[in-house]
Amino acid sequence: MCGIIGYIGDRQAQSILVSCLQRLEYRGYDSCGIAVSSNGIKAYKDAVRVAALERAAPQLNGRIGIGHTRWATQGEPSRVNAHPHGDCSGKITVVHNGIISNFQLLRRQLTAEGHKFISETDTEVIPHLIEKYYHGNLEEAVAAALCDVEGSYAIAVLAAGESKLVAARKDCPLIIGIGDRENFIASDVPAILDYTNRVIYLEDGDIVVVTADNIKITRDGTEVSRQEDKVLWSVADAQKAGYEHFMLKEIHEQPKVIRDTLIGWVSVAEPAVDLAALRGGVESVLILACGTSYYAALIGKYIIEELLSIPVRVEIASEFNYYGHTLARTLAIVITQSGETADTLKAMKKLKAVGCRVLAITNVIGSSASRIADYTLYTRAGPEVSVAATKSFIAQLMVLYWLVISYSQVEARRLADLMMELRQLPEKVQQVLDNEGKIKEYASYLSEYASVFFIGRGINFPVALEGALKLKEISYIHAEGYAAGELKHGPFALLGKDTPIVAVVARDSTYQAMLSSIREVKARGSPVIVLAEEGDEAVGELADLVIAVPKVGAMFSPVINTVVLQLLAYYTAKEKGRPIDFPRNLAKSVTVE
Ligand code: M6R
Repeated sequence: MCGIIGYIGDRQAQSILVSCLQRLEYRGYDSCGIAVSSNGIKAYKDAVRVAALERAAPQLNGRIGIGHTRWATQGEPSRVNAHPHGDCSGKITVVHNGIISNFQLLRRQLTAEGHKFISETDTEVIPHLIEKYYHGNLEEAVAAALCDVEGSYAIAVLAAGESKLVAARKDCPLIIGIGDRENFIASDVPAILDYTNRVIYLEDGDIVVVTADNIKITRDGTEVSRQEDKVLWSVADAQKAGYEHFMLKEIHEQPKVIRDTLIGWVSVAEPAVDLAALRGGVESVLILACGTSYYAALIGKYIIEELLSIPVRVEIASEFNYYGHTLARTLAIVITQSGETADTLKAMKKLKAVGCRVLAITNVIGSSASRIADYTLYTRAGPEVSVAATKSFIAQLMVLYWLVISYSQVEARRLADLMMELRQLPEKVQQVLDNEGKIKEYASYLSEYASVFFIGRGINFPVALEGALKLKEISYIHAEGYAAGELKHGPFALLGKDTPIVAVVARDSTYQAMLSSIREVKARGSPVIVLAEEGDEAVGELADLVIAVPKVGAMFSPVINTVVLQLLAYYTAKEKGRPIDFPRNLAKSVTVE
């Protein structure tokens, strides 16, 4: 969603701001803008891509500036609604992520006091409030303005004649990048990785004054110190490395992601989380997440119930936030790649408020989820740029497998088998990737249809859901994931020769029932593509097309099958010429409710 950058240093700000905005594009946006200060503030913004902004913007001289990519929430995407936003005098300029929930009231009050508004945004009240309180001390004015606002924000403020930037956060991520005689403000790490890997993760309530050679953080008027962290991944990790799309690169990284996760967790004697403390007194587990992470959670339920015999509830975070719950002796796990999904964070706060212990599984060090949680397990997927989640999902599954296997008290022989299967996964996923030619062929076939059903049973039911989400998200083909047994309770009415079915078949207790489901849909004329274990002749006789997948234990089959469905979605979207990495209307991290 929206992205923020701020720069102050020895160099001309404009080109640096633009290059950082390019690194923020993956978050999804519909307009962008920059403002630079030297003799007064000059800004340029529009409802265009960053490349178009770079071409169209006049030269803005100055060594201090701010920039923004906007994903419209309040007010349509347009030049006037794009950030930065200014005050009446042209002295104060602000970029903002988040939502000011009391902006209408503030706008009415400020208008009555003589302030003039030109945009439809909630953000515009912030520069006007700062203007109102600005009597020579910018940070005091920002602090006073923020006392008036309700809602969430990460802001960067530029004021004419001031050789500093002021930034603040509440419920929206914001970091400081530390350079050599230059400093940065950014909404996330990839924005600044071209310039520095030294970062400070700000906390809610922090107000920071940034100059070229100093960073001063205060909280409630008192100076505080925050730890400096080193980002371990590089710009190259966040680049395409010769692949046509980030999504394809990220799919191909999955054997490494699995290996890294296993090295990180399975072979470390002292895990970062005190597992005994986590388990103490737990009688049930609640897992919360959104989107693809929610499907990882559903798979987690199968694994936990099978190996730990603890009852597990899985809830969509946005739904959980609106009704009461029984949470006694419950361990809550939240799964979120970005660690910034607004619905998930809201659910976490609700859980904490009632005294629930919360374990976060996230891919982003220092993310809001990791700050709210009691314990955090980091997935080792590296930066995921494509809006469609792929490697982060597989990494989430690996952490869940590891967590559950670590706790399980299954007999030694079974444990050894599980560990062996886990270790073989990178190689098996590689086999799928090496045979993507066939998947490509089937994708071309699928791309001719307007609607597709994905079906699975048991632990592969969430895989069907994820396969459908991936396909609709990037190819724009209507797709639905169904528990195979549910088709006959309604969706059968839609089946026919124009509605293909992708069936995920595993060699587990669901096998015969899946074969029956395939027969049933075939009888209604639907073409069927089946994912089945190599050498499965029975399936071969039933299906129109078969994608043979390497043999793995049933518990790990979601890993292999998901990779197949990721490739199927990718090549279908490519066939249709879609903007795969940045699908319309979507954002990488969904920071609004
Ligand atoms: O960052 P999170 O894991 O919390 O994100 C949750 C969803 O927004 C995300 O998985 C979304 O569904 C993806 N675009 C799916 O590919």
